[in-house]
Amino acid sequence: MKATALAHSNTALIKYLGKKDEQLIIPMNNSISITIDALSTITTVEFSPQYTEDVFILNDKKATGQAYQRVVKHLDLLRQEAQRKLKAKVVSKNNFPTAMGLASSASGFAALTVAACAALGLKKTPQELSMLSRQGSGSSCRSIFGGFVEWVKDDGTGKSYAIQLADEDWWDLRDIVLILEEKEQRQYSTREAMRLSMKTSPFFAARLAATESNLDKMRRAIKKRDFTLLGTVAEHDCLLMHAVALTSNPWQLFWTSATVKMMKLVPQLREKGLPCYFTIDSGANMHLLTLPEHQESILAELEKHHFIKKIVCARLAGGATIISDHLF
Ligand code: DP6
Repeated sequence: MKATALAHSNTALIKYLGKKDEQLIIPMNNSISITIDALSTITTVEFSPQYTEDVFILNDKKATGQAYQRVVKHLDLLRQEAQRKLKAKVVSKNNFPTAMGLASSASGFAALTVAACAALGLKKTPQELSMLSRQGSGSSCRSIFGGFVEWVKDDGTGKSYAIQLADEDWWDLRDIVLILEEKEQRQYSTREAMRLSMKTSPFFAARLAATESNLDKMRRAIKKRDFTLLGTVAEHDCLLMHAVALTSNPWQLFWTSATVKMMKLVPQLREKGLPCYFTIDSGANMHLLTLPEHQESILAELEKHHFIKKIVCARLAGGATIISDHLF
């Protein structure tokens, strides 16, 4: 009863913001993301009578507190599915820093869901895996799939899961991940920040009202491989999300001065004839979207700016999969 899964993180082009149901994690709006290869999580799960309690080891450290509780809650959901009571050992490794606005919960819960279902002998379709993963962390339901993915808030029968819009070979988009802060102290978790945004910002409703049309544009941009449209809409939706966060009570600002410097640089790069657009999640780091033919020139420009701590170049990746090398 042991299995290991690999899942990649995803970058939201149209953000998931606000929950209609906090328990089941049903979102207020559909969201669209790309699954990216450079940020990933490998997780091994073993269920055994030898374990008297669940153990969760993340990046070589025994997890406690909220991180541990969230994993136990998710294991409980999957145990209930399988009608088993066995406790588990979960060992997980991210190849990037956790909790820095780099969507660690997305690859983390997708890998946990896929590995735990396999270890429990549950045969699930990708859609079912997506629904289960969603209940661990919303954005993780998109990481079950590769390429371009849409999380459908309600499929008409009350179910909410992700679907693939196009696979990773459809369009060779590039996501240059800019690490601007390595040790970030955040006041609120993404979950709490999202709750505050929805409950208190007068701009939440306005952003929600704008989302249908932005989703349409994003689907069209992907279908037609229209990079200008994709980038413009992604950047705009990112700013809408941050405007909502800024106007919540208490207000939340995820950017640091390095983020703002970088935001100002992006239009300058475009003026130089280098097509690129940014998106930022609930953290200080940035995803710079571009096309392969411009990547080298953009990297050469970025090298001039020493406030950028680290650069990770990502391509589109496939969905979450079972792998044979266990972590223990
Ligand atoms: C800003 O999926 O981490 O990255 O469902 O509460 O676990 P929970 O939230 P989470 O939120 C991610 C929010 C975001 C935007 C996005 O990925 O769509």
